[in-house]
Amino acid sequence: MTDRELVLLERDGPVAWLTLNRPEARNALSLPTLLRLRVLLAELRRADDVWVVALTGAGDKAFCAGADLKERRGLSEDQVRQFVQQIRGTMDDLAALPQPTVAVMNGHAFGGGCEMALACDLRVLDRGAMIGLTETSLAIIPGAGGCVRLPRLIGSAKAKELILMARRLEAREAEQLGLVNFLAPPGGARSLGQEIVSALLRNGPLALRAAKAAIDGSLDLPVASALEHEFACYQRILPTEDRLEALAAFGEKRPARFRGR
Ligand code: COA
Repeated sequence: MTDRELVLLERDGPVAWLTLNRPEARNALSLPTLLRLRVLLAELRRADDVWVVALTGAGDKAFCAGADLKERRGLSEDQVRQFVQQIRGTMDDLAALPQPTVAVMNGHAFGGGCEMALACDLRVLDRGAMIGLTETSLAIIPGAGGCVRLPRLIGSAKAKELILMARRLEAREAEQLGLVNFLAPPGGARSLGQEIVSALLRNGPLALRAAKAAIDGSLDLPVASALEHEFACYQRILPTEDRLEALAAFGEKRPARFRGR
């Protein structure tokens, strides 16, 4: 397999599907896989014609089994340090994409696989799959944002339980905790992911970007500054054609045709 095949990028109109493509290794994240993913994420960041990004895994066993533990055995302490910086940077690039992102988890998501999902905006999980930040069972800690993003998502008490106990959660419990937004029937993650993507596409693409920026940029601000930030994001969409199209479509009782302008 060439490095380009480690992660696939497929376009479906305004949607970009990224697929981790090492099913024989349960889509584990090797260094070459991360480097390829970062190249593709950099392309997507600049792609104004991509309105939604979906991320999934090849095969039906795992979305992603986390860091490549076979590769890890051959690494020195310094190389592990560099790997952790690389995987953290990759998840930061994913979280910073301007488009809404959907983790379409077709199977288990452990360690870095779970962290990858946490760096997305919405999460779909196959009902038969398990998910967790299991690093402490390997005598390490989540180092790609898991210790930071999980408590912000589900609260520090539950996050501590999951991380300190290295719990592998059943899909249903993950959904009840708010770690996962949607459960798919067995084998149906991609098709449910497609439905969620379609629902997103019915909304104004520039508004989706602005709403994401308004939420992500305000979480760590005091309320007054957060409200200012929300207003700044609103201002970005005021001059758009799509805003006027939505008003015209409402008046004419027809669906809006958004163009991302
Ligand atoms: N890194 C490297 N290889 C991995 C891997 C990982 N994180 N996870 C699985 N693999 C490999 C296995 O070693 C095996 O390779 P082999 O065929 O050469 O023996 C292959 O993928 C299939 O794994 P297997 O465990 O037989 O598949 P499964 O479908 O029964 O179970 C998992 C899948 C994901 C539940 C299981 O592989 C697992 O628990 N992996 C470790 C997950 C983990 O702890 N991640 C945290 C990393 S910090």
